[in-house]
Amino acid sequence: MDDHTVSFGAALRHHRRQQGLSLRQLAGLVAYSPGWLSKIENGMSTPTMQLARLCDRELAAEGVLAALAGSAADDLPPRLRPAQLPPSTTGFIGRERELRNLDALLAHSTETGLPLTVAIDGPAGVGKSALMIRWAGQVSGSFPGGVLYRDLRGSSPDAEPVRPTEALADFLIALRVCPPAVPADLEQRAAMFRSLLAGLRMLVILDNAADSRQVAPLLPGTAGCAAVVTSRRRLTGIAVRAGASKIPLGPMSPAESVALLCAVVGPDRVLAEADAAGKLARHCAHLPLALRIAAERLAARPHRSLALLAEELDDEKSRLDLLADADDPHLALRSAFFGSYRDLDPEAARAFRLLGLHPDGRLEAAVAAGLIGRPLGHTRRLLESLVSVHLLEETGPDRYRLATLLRAYAAERAGDEEARVGADDPGPTAR
Ligand SMILES: Nc1ncnc2c1ncn2[C@@H]1O[C@H](COP(=O)(O)OP(=O)(O)O)[C@@H](O)[C@H]1O
Ligand SMILES: [Mg+2]
Repeated sequence: MDDHTVSFGAALRHHRRQQGLSLRQLAGLVAYSPGWLSKIENGMSTPTMQLARLCDRELAAEGVLAALAGSAADDLPPRLRPAQLPPSTTGFIGRERELRNLDALLAHSTETGLPLTVAIDGPAGVGKSALMIRWAGQVSGSFPGGVLYRDLRGSSPDAEPVRPTEALADFLIALRVCPPAVPADLEQRAAMFRSLLAGLRMLVILDNAADSRQVAPLLPGTAGCAAVVTSRRRLTGIAVRAGASKIPLGPMSPAESVALLCAVVGPDRVLAEADAAGKLARHCAHLPLALRIAAERLAARPHRSLALLAEELDDEKSRLDLLADADDPHLALRSAFFGSYRDLDPEAARAFRLLGLHPDGRLEAAVAAGLIGRPLGHTRRLLESLVSVHLLEETGPDRYRLATLLRAYAAERAGDEEARVGADDPGPTAR
């Protein structure tokens, strides 16, 4: 018994009952035997397309049954095809290299007949979701089965990560499985999901994944389908197990940063103050989220000079205040960084805070060990756990960099929390 047959049977029973028909009555309408229909409803026989179409007509099921009966993607009428992609960022800038890289990976998977899984990872606000949604929009035409999208809330400042079983139920329903036919168990849901996708050309987009464990049951795994995942964490698990290709995403180039400012603020204003624009972009660490917030600030104040904002941002301490939107508390660097910080274990969180006290954020492991007050080997492990969630960069052997905006955030948290934590913790010796 395959999952298609089971979900067709459940859907048929659902629509028949909705119309208030008995098996015998439906059998009369479609000229099949009641026994045969009962076998189909119980998932013990496979329906023909002709029967599915007849039932659709008699039960006013709007093509749902035919769609479930036909596993070929091209059979899905457009209105039954999931098209869940959110709108692309307005004024999307640059990222040509990454877009070409994604195109090449898709072309390679089409040639080799292997399923495609790509994981885009990078720090908060670097533009992972924007890149993924942009690319998905460009290639969605190559996926006649449709596009499934889920924000897995792996690093939302104010929400728990979505459980894979919940995401699977939503996907199954989007694939026209009627809710009573969705199995209770995670394994069964995942198996049904994979069976329904077999033979389809479907693009599955998993945004903001918490970790590989959350993502693994949601990967299609059959040729013709593709999955793109974004995460702040390096998803080594799915790279190893599902052969995912990785695209690390870093800050924009200075030219892309200025182009982003031009797109939001207007080229005349930006190019009239080209030096100030460059300085502003540096103060935003070329991070799209920071650039976007700064740009919106300028756009809302048409008479403000770029030079003035750049000057205000000179002060590292007030940067995080300025790079926040009064109107939308989520549109702020603090809230984006908190999403990553919140999930650290207490010792890694403490290490992060203490690194924020370093004067320029470029430090060797031994210096970090002094700041944190832990032995070198232990410190390396703590640093590695910060690197794996993009709260710290590894710049060479035993060398690390805490980016300026993150350093400001870490220092703030240190000010807020060290005194409190210090009460029951001997704390660092070198502070
Ligand atoms: N290439 C880009 N062009 C224009 N704006 C961008 C670009 N990348 C990101 N942004 C903007 O920066 C902000 C953060 O991007 P987002 O994709 O949400 O980051 P992430 O998913 O890495 O946390 C969003 O407001 C987004 O619109
Ligand atoms: Mg995102």
